Amino acid sequence: MNKLRKLTKAIGRICRHPYLLNLVLQDEGAAKEETLRRYACPDGLPLVELSTLFPDFQEKVFPYAYLSGATMPIDIALLKALAAKYGAKDYFEIGTWRGESVANVAEVVPHCVTFNLPKERIVALTHNPDYAGLHGFFSQSKAGVEQVYGDSQTFDFTPHEGKFDLIFVDGDHHRESVLKDTRTAFRLRRDERSIIVWHDYAYDPESIRWNVLSAILEGTPPEMRGRLYHVAHTLCAVYLPESLGTFETHKLSPYEAPRQCFEVALRAHDC
Ligand SMILES: C[S@@+](CC[C@H](N)C(=O)[O-])C[C@H]1O[C@@H](n2cnc3c(N)ncnc32)[C@H](O)[C@@H]1O
Repeated sequence: MNKLRKLTKAIGRICRHPYLLNLVLQDEGAAKEETLRRYACPDGLPLVELSTLFPDFQEKVFPYAYLSGATMPIDIALLKALAAKYGAKDYFEIGTWRGESVANVAEVVPHCVTFNLPKERIVALTHNPDYAGLHGFFSQSKAGVEQVYGDSQTFDFTPHEGKFDLIFVDGDHHRESVLKDTRTAFRLRRDERSIIVWHDYAYDPESIRWNVLSAILEGTPPEMRGRLYHVAHTLCAVYLPESLGTFETHKLSPYEAPRQCFEVALRAHDC
């Protein structure tokens, strides 16, 4: 098929199914090109090893269901390790789902707030009451966890601003949503020691999600971008209270030999 016929066919399809426009706007190749035009980051954020951040990295993750839409255990372990290292007292997350991340963080942080779309909105969007009903499964009766409902794109976060030591951005991962949530996250910080963690900065620990990176960079004040890192072996980007030395980071080189490996012990529990 020649290009003109392809274009005519594509326009016809977009007219019949306007949601297909999202596929164009979310294309990762185009997002990468645009990000590289605006920011000098051909390898994404500098990569920091867990052993650099935590010389004795050892965390237990429980509860964890190994089911769809879950954050990886190592990402949850990173949240717990950051909370412990920086003595976090107040945690805010955008995106609850089953409540796995917040239930784990609540083991080490006394006050946790988890924010999510309300159940009726999820049912309206997905037509799936079972999916909606599972929100907060692990966190709803957990001590120290407060559930707040709203749409992060329109919610007034003013009462929560300036109160949190650790903020986890893990809601809707479309570019515009991550941009808005990133701006919100910077306002939620208590002070200069506060940390932000973004989930789904990468599709897997060696493949950057360029739409998300571009939203993180745009939403981070320019003078603070030098404290953004990708934590090796995780899907997370972090904003740290201090800059790391260049010798403490390296660039992402997909398929290089692993510098670290981990011990994983699994034990089943009934829910
Ligand atoms: C990836 S899941 C969160 C996973 C959770 N942090 C964990 O690790 O266990 C994303 C969640 O964000 C919620 N969400 C999506 N868009 C949102 C929005 N605009 N405002 C608030 N929550 C949203 C979804 O309902 C879903 O529960």
